[in-house]
Amino acid sequence: MASVLHKLITPLISGPPEPPRNKVTVVGVGQVGMACAVSILLRELADELALVDVVEDKLKGEMMDLQHGSLFLKTPKIVADKDYSVTANSRIVVVTAGVRQQEGESRLNLVQRNVNIFKHIIPQIVRYSPDCIIIVVSNPVDVLTYVTWKLSGLPMHRVIGSGTNLDSARFRFLMADKLGIHSSSFNGWILGEHGDTSVPVWSGTNVAGVNLQTLNPNIGTDFDEENWKETHKMVLDSTHTLASFQGFTRRSVWLLSVEPMTHTYYFSLTRMYPTLTYQQGMYGIGDEVYLSLPCVLNSGGVASVVNMTLTDEEVAQLQGSASTLWDIQKDLRDI
Ligand SMILES: NC(=O)c1ccc[n+]([C@@H]2O[C@H](COP(=O)([O-])OP(=O)(O)OC[C@H]3O[C@@H](n4cnc5c(N)ncnc54)[C@H](O)[C@@H]3O)[C@@H](O)[C@H]2O)c1
Repeated sequence: MASVLHKLITPLISGPPEPPRNKVTVVGVGQVGMACAVSILLRELADELALVDVVEDKLKGEMMDLQHGSLFLKTPKIVADKDYSVTANSRIVVVTAGVRQQEGESRLNLVQRNVNIFKHIIPQIVRYSPDCIIIVVSNPVDVLTYVTWKLSGLPMHRVIGSGTNLDSARFRFLMADKLGIHSSSFNGWILGEHGDTSVPVWSGTNVAGVNLQTLNPNIGTDFDEENWKETHKMVLDSTHTLASFQGFTRRSVWLLSVEPMTHTYYFSLTRMYPTLTYQQGMYGIGDEVYLSLPCVLNSGGVASVVNMTLTDEEVAQLQGSASTLWDIQKDLRDI
């Protein structure tokens, strides 16, 4: 006897269903990964969302939780599995998986542990979605983006990291707050490593085209009586400060920082972000590293990099950032 389904619905097309056109995969369903998944759904950036993690119960729970909201969402399919076949045909893959630093653990040891995890994740992603763009969020994001590029075999413009996008957003908020204006009205960039050696480009800070360094030549230096440099220190301390208050950073990194990048890919908006891209040869950097510079993103990945006019001191700081990263990368095994 024919089932209700067969009595109700008569198929007009035979064969397998069309593959998704705008599938997004999130690897790692922790705090950041789930903030990422929710914002992709709310912003309607995917016709299919796939989640992957190694903890099966948690993965299933997160998938069901999102599926139960389907009535209020426009993404028709939400899937999850430990097996990477679930990620097939993704257009964008966001990697937020990783382990956290243990007490007393060296940075190199943490990086090597995450590299070992990435050695499992990245080849699987590429196997099932050879044409995807990979966005790396896991820390240390600069090194892991480089590792991803190496392990994936993808062209460099299709492997990017969130980099100093969040640092720059924090910088703009803190500077604008001091000036009593909205963040979007203050222009300033933080480049280089997402970490202690990041470079605030004081020479380019401006409001409505008025360069702040022309108003205060010492801005950002130790000789500045107004101590504007403090804002960069606050940016650097943000992660620790937030960790002590709420345990981790999650919303700003995805909802407010990485999500606009995904949005830009989706609509090929050619917007500019300080994101991680391959930098060898720029600003006299000889090492093979991924550093954050102003990148123009479109649907193909990183379309171009803006050659910012930097002072000699800023270039030297950027080179310092690159050598700090290379010092870690050169000792990594098996990439
Ligand atoms: N780039 C940035 O600006 C920025 C900001 C905040 C956090 N982060 C980083 O994002 C990452 C995630 O942070 P979180 O707070 O969500 O951590 P979390 O510990 O809550 O989540 C990590 C998830 O990764 C999963 N995982 C571990 N190994 C895996 C594997 N082999 N395959 C698939 N999944 C695996 C874990 O099960 C867990 O669910 C961290 O590395 C964190 O440092 C980056």
